[in-house]
Order: sequence, then C-alpha cells, then structure tokens
Amino acid sequence: MAKLAVNVDHVATLRQARGGVEPDPVTAASIAELAGAEGIICHLREDRRHIQDRDLRLLREVVKTKLNLEMAPVEEMVEIALSVSPDMVTLVPERRQELTTEGGLDVLADLERYQKIVERLHRARILVSFFVDPSPEQVMAAKDCGADIVEIHTGQYAEAKNEDQAEKKFRKIEQAAKSAFELGLGVSAGHGLNYVNIKRFRLIPEIEEYSIGHSIVARAVFVGFERAVREMVEMVRSF
Ligand code: PXP
Repeated sequence: MAKLAVNVDHVATLRQARGGVEPDPVTAASIAELAGAEGIICHLREDRRHIQDRDLRLLREVVKTKLNLEMAPVEEMVEIALSVSPDMVTLVPERRQELTTEGGLDVLADLERYQKIVERLHRARILVSFFVDPSPEQVMAAKDCGADIVEIHTGQYAEAKNEDQAEKKFRKIEQAAKSAFELGLGVSAGHGLNYVNIKRFRLIPEIEEYSIGHSIVARAVFVGFERAVREMVEMVRSF
C-alpha cells in the first residue's frame, strides 16, 4: 500500500497571485492530513515565489504526519533546514527562470558537496531524499552520498506525447525504482502525476510514496480540497 504526500506549493501560488493571505497552504496541509495524506511537502524556493519562510515555520508547528522540505542544495537553504528541522529534506535543482522543477538533480556532478550537505542534515536527524531522473547511475550516486531516499522524477513520463513514449519512460522509472530498492533506499516518485497517469504505477510496488501537488489542487477547484486529496489517497492505497 503506497502513501500520498501532498505538495502545498500550488495553494501558496494562488495566494501570491494577489499578494494576500488566502488561500493558506497551512490550512491546506491540515485538510490534506484529515483526508488521509501521510506527508506534507513544501518547496522554499530561493526567489520565494510561492512558499514563504512564515509558511515553513507554521507548517513545522502544524504538520502531524511528516514535513518534507524541498530545497536547492545551497548554503542558505541548509541553514534554514537546520533551524526549522523538517522531518526530511528533498534536494532538488533550481533555476530561477523555470516554471517548475524541470529535471532531477545531477548528483554525479557534485558528489562531494552533496555528501557534506547530507552529513550536516543527518547530524540534525533530518532524513535526506534526492530528486533524480530515472537513471540507475543517479540512483547509485545518491546512495554514495548517503541519501536515505530517492524521489524518481516522473515528469518525462507525464509529458509523453503518445502511448509508446509513455511506456518507454515508464519502464525507465521502473528500472530506477527497482535499483534504488535493491540498494536499500526508500523510493518515492513524483512530478506531473494525475488521477489518470498514476494508474500504471500499480506495476511498481517498490515505490512507497507519491509526491503530488498540481493535479490535486486543480481538481480541488471543482470538487473541494478534502475530496481531491481523499480520491488520490484511495488511488495510491489501492496499489
Ligand atoms: N516532486 C518534486 C521534487 C517537485 O518539485 C514537485 C513540483 O513541485 C512535485 C514532486 C509535485 O509535482 P506536481 O505538482 O506536478 O504534482
């Protein structure tokens, strides 16, 4: 039975569109937990385009399941993580011009630096996940850095233009998930997953958790946030 962790960035994006106080991602986190989510994710970006420092502090107070802070592997964010103490951190690449996180972290490119970041977070008892493309080499590099978990990037699968492409991308995810599992890493997956394209994932029992934001918030506009979360919880629990 897989778990759902809900990303509340998209609620903050809507709030920031007017620069006001609603909708509040902290309220969304509580509703998501009531609806069965087993984790809450927020990404504190360097440009603070959606989640604010205030949100992170309050989420730390309010989240009862597991708070996962997504962040770029840079000094400013490491300091914030050490002061806020989320249950886990997911290291992601970040480019200011991008609309959303576009690719996985190239762990091989900066192995020693990432290793030191993992050590610092581990000393503070924070679990560390690496967001990686579905590549066994990147999975292995994450393991070499001391990662506890890898989150496999599902974006290319989600954006496939036809069934043939989708199947190829899915097979890559499956291969990466199996190699991570065999290395003893926790395995999660996310990016671009929705109520339709997630169905195929019942074929990969190695994936323990799904990180989903946009499709849940999009559905919530029509059916309400609680119901949108519950429907996705039921979907992943059926795997
Ligand atoms: N995982 C990571 C690392 C992400 O950056 C995002 C996007 O914020 C997600 C999962 C969730 O993606 P989506 O919002 O497309 O469900």
